[in-house]
Amino acid sequence: MNELSSPVREGGPGNATAAGLDLSRVRTIDGVDVEGKRVLVRVDFNVPIEAGGVADATRIDRVLPTIAKLARKGAKVVVLSHLGRPKGVPTPETSLQPVAAKMQELMPGTAVRFVGASLGDEAKRAVDALQVGEVAVLENLRHHKGEEKNDPEFAKALAALGDIYVNDAFSSAHRAHASMEAIAGLLPSYAGLLMMAEITALGEALEEPERPVMAIVGGAKVSTKIEVLTNLAARMDQLVVGGGMANTFLLAKGVEIGASFSEPDFVETARDIMAKAERSGCEIVLPSDVVVAKELKAGVAWRVCAVGEVPADAMILDFGPASVADLKRRLGGVKTVLWNGPLGAFETAPFGEATFALAGEVARLTKEGELVSVAGGGDTVRALNAAHATADFTYVSTAGGAFLEWLGGHELPAVSALAQSGARAAA
Ligand code: 3PG
Repeated sequence: MNELSSPVREGGPGNATAAGLDLSRVRTIDGVDVEGKRVLVRVDFNVPIEAGGVADATRIDRVLPTIAKLARKGAKVVVLSHLGRPKGVPTPETSLQPVAAKMQELMPGTAVRFVGASLGDEAKRAVDALQVGEVAVLENLRHHKGEEKNDPEFAKALAALGDIYVNDAFSSAHRAHASMEAIAGLLPSYAGLLMMAEITALGEALEEPERPVMAIVGGAKVSTKIEVLTNLAARMDQLVVGGGMANTFLLAKGVEIGASFSEPDFVETARDIMAKAERSGCEIVLPSDVVVAKELKAGVAWRVCAVGEVPADAMILDFGPASVADLKRRLGGVKTVLWNGPLGAFETAPFGEATFALAGEVARLTKEGELVSVAGGGDTVRALNAAHATADFTYVSTAGGAFLEWLGGHELPAVSALAQSGARAAA
């Protein structure tokens, strides 16, 4: 099963998040009458542009089901997005024109028009001219300062272009921007299919997982994931700490780590997290053996050694085979896995072996129905793709920052705005 076939419960995920948000109030587009209506669809087309074209269309692909469904049901679809961080200053590099062209390529049966403005007469004329089942992609919202300021006037001007608002941009849900938050107070507001799938999958894995539940959190720096680790230490049964972060945890336990990357200033933080985990009955899992080398470079000489025996001039670059075997054994006993961040320096061979082996095992167990597995974050998605494991995970999120915010126990302003809109409608 992949994200597009993930079950979405009628009426939403139906649970309150750590931040106290009642997700059952978020309304889906299923059953909404959009015939002849102008539907504003906020997407996250913040995609890489290279040589004037879209270098990776994943984020476009993922929202096509929502756009196609609305168009099929007779909506006039108006697509809103940001691209990059132009900070209110239009630049050719941040134009959504190539993205609209890519969309047209991916939806050959639907008319997709690019509109060189997101406000004013040009935008209004283009929206007025839309026929049922057609799609207009408006220019980058961040060409206006009002977008990032969550400016009510900017939101009002955008809302005037539509009858209904649909948010399908989960990966931007941590941004309290006008087209993400303020606008949801001005129009009947719904979650798109991708948004719904994201909040359902993450809500189920984090807020009400089938237990035992394991989180695997990798990456270089404890300093960037303190809230994630702290929140997970209180909620998970096992928390595997990988990547450079594991070195800081090993330091905190008094283990010699040679010349490995670490953050000595965050050793105390690591100790606090370990103490919190212990109080909550969460086991922190660190490697027992590691792969070391004198530098991080393809083709460099490497060897496996036990943790505690890392030579003074060597760096830890991956979990070792005994640690991988231990993780595989542990996986056999858990029901839910949440994954963010690789275990080692996976982009340089052979230091991706532990991440790839673990990804393969999670994928296999998921496919066999033994596990629910949810992963997210840019590095994680690249690592899972490299391991050919993505398709077998229960859900792989398109989000980076928003995924981390959720794992860190924060409310996502755009999701809250959708829940509030739903609550108002039900009142
Ligand atoms: C992302 O790529 O994470 C989102 O599009 C948000 O982009 P931002 O960090 O520029 O707000």
